[in-house]
Amino acid sequence: MPKRNDTLTAAKDKKSDEFYTQYEDIQREINAYLEYNPDTFRDKTILLPCDDPEWSNFTRFFAQNFEMLGLKKLISTSYSIESKQAHETVQLSIFDYLTDFEKNSPQYDETISPKRGKIFTITRRNKKIDINDLQWRYLEGDGDFRSEEVTRLRDEADIIVTNPPFSLFREFLPWILTADKQFLVIGNQNAITYKEIFPYVLQNRIWLGMRFNQRVNGKNMTFAVPESYPSSGTEIFTDASGKRYISVAGTGWFTNLEHGRRHQPLSLMTMADNIKFSMHSDIRETGYLHYDNYDAIEVPYTDAIPSDYSGVIGVPITFLKFYCPEQFELLGATESEGKGFSNGLWDDASGVSQPLVNGVRKYKRLFIRKKDG
Ligand SMILES: C[S@@+](CC[C@H](N)C(=O)[O-])C[C@H]1O[C@@H](n2cnc3c(N)ncnc32)[C@H](O)[C@@H]1O
Repeated sequence: MPKRNDTLTAAKDKKSDEFYTQYEDIQREINAYLEYNPDTFRDKTILLPCDDPEWSNFTRFFAQNFEMLGLKKLISTSYSIESKQAHETVQLSIFDYLTDFEKNSPQYDETISPKRGKIFTITRRNKKIDINDLQWRYLEGDGDFRSEEVTRLRDEADIIVTNPPFSLFREFLPWILTADKQFLVIGNQNAITYKEIFPYVLQNRIWLGMRFNQRVNGKNMTFAVPESYPSSGTEIFTDASGKRYISVAGTGWFTNLEHGRRHQPLSLMTMADNIKFSMHSDIRETGYLHYDNYDAIEVPYTDAIPSDYSGVIGVPITFLKFYCPEQFELLGATESEGKGFSNGLWDDASGVSQPLVNGVRKYKRLFIRKKDG
C-alpha cells in the first residue's frame, strides 16, 4: 500500500493536460507566418509531439496542407493512454482513444496498444501527398517527449509544433531550445516569467506568436475536452452535438518563427502629449511616477508608453505581445522567478525583486528601454 505521503505526491503531480486544439486556431496562426514568409515551412521536417495523430487537428492540418506548405516530412507522435492516465486527474477511457483506424489496421495489437505511443509519418515522394499517405507504427516506448526515442525525432526535425502539456511547459521549451530548433507551441502567459523560460525571452530566442491572450468571436482560445474535464475555474460550454470545450484566458502561441506583427513598432505619443491627451485618467491626472526602489518609471498601460523617454520603463507583462525588438530593448522581469535575469537592473542580492511606487507593489512588470533611432 502506498504511504500517505506518496499518495499525496502522486495526487499533486496529476494535472488536467487533456485539452485539444481546434483546426481553425492552427490554420489562422500558420497563415500569419506564411504571410510574412511563404517559405517558412518549405523543405522542412515538422515534428508534432504530444499529439494523438489519428484525430489531432495538428496532424490533420499539416497532412492536408503538406503540398501547400512544401514540407519534406511530417512526423506526429502520441503518448500512450496508460501513461496519460497515470498523470491525469481526468478519467480517460481507452475506448475513446482506440480509434477504428487503429483497430482496423493490420498492425493493431491489443496488448501493446495501451502501453505504447504511436508514430505517424508522411515523407515527400514524387506524387501528390494527402492524408491517406500517413504511415504508422507503435513506438518502442510510451511516447514521452523526454524519451530517447522522441528526442531522436526532435533532432531529426527542423520545426516542432504542438500544444504541449502545460504542466510540463518548463521542461518542454528548453527541450526544444537546447537543440536549437524552431518551434510554434501553445502555452499560458504565466510561463513568460518562469525561470526556465524568461532567460530565452530576454535573449530574443522566444517571443509571442500572432494570437496571444486575445478573444476571437467573443471567446478566449478554446479547446475540446473529454467528458470528465473539471469545470471549476474555466469557461466550459457544449456545442450542438454535445462536444465539450473550454475557453482559457491568457493562452496563446510561443514561437521563434518570424511574423509580421513582431516588427511593427507601436505608435506612441510623447510624454507631454500623453499627459494632455491620454485616454487613461490617471496618466492625465498624475503623469508618470518613478519607482521607489528602481531607477525607472512605472507605465501601467502599453498605449501610454512615452515615445520620447530614454530611461528604463516598467510595463505590464502583456506588453510582450506588442514587443518590437527594433523599437525596444528588453531588460528584465520583476516576478520572483525572473530574478537573476535582470541584466543588472536591480540588485538581486538584496532579495527585492518587486518594484514599489509610493510604497505600493507593482506586480508582473517587464522592464524595457527605447532603442536609439
Ligand atoms: C494540451 S494536450 C494537447 C494535445 C494535442 N497536442 C492538441 O493540441 O490537440 C497535451 C497532450 O500531451 C500529452 N502528454 C502529457 N505528458 C506528456 C509527455 N510527457 N510526453 C508526451 N505527451 C505528453 C497529454 O496526454 C495530452 O494529450
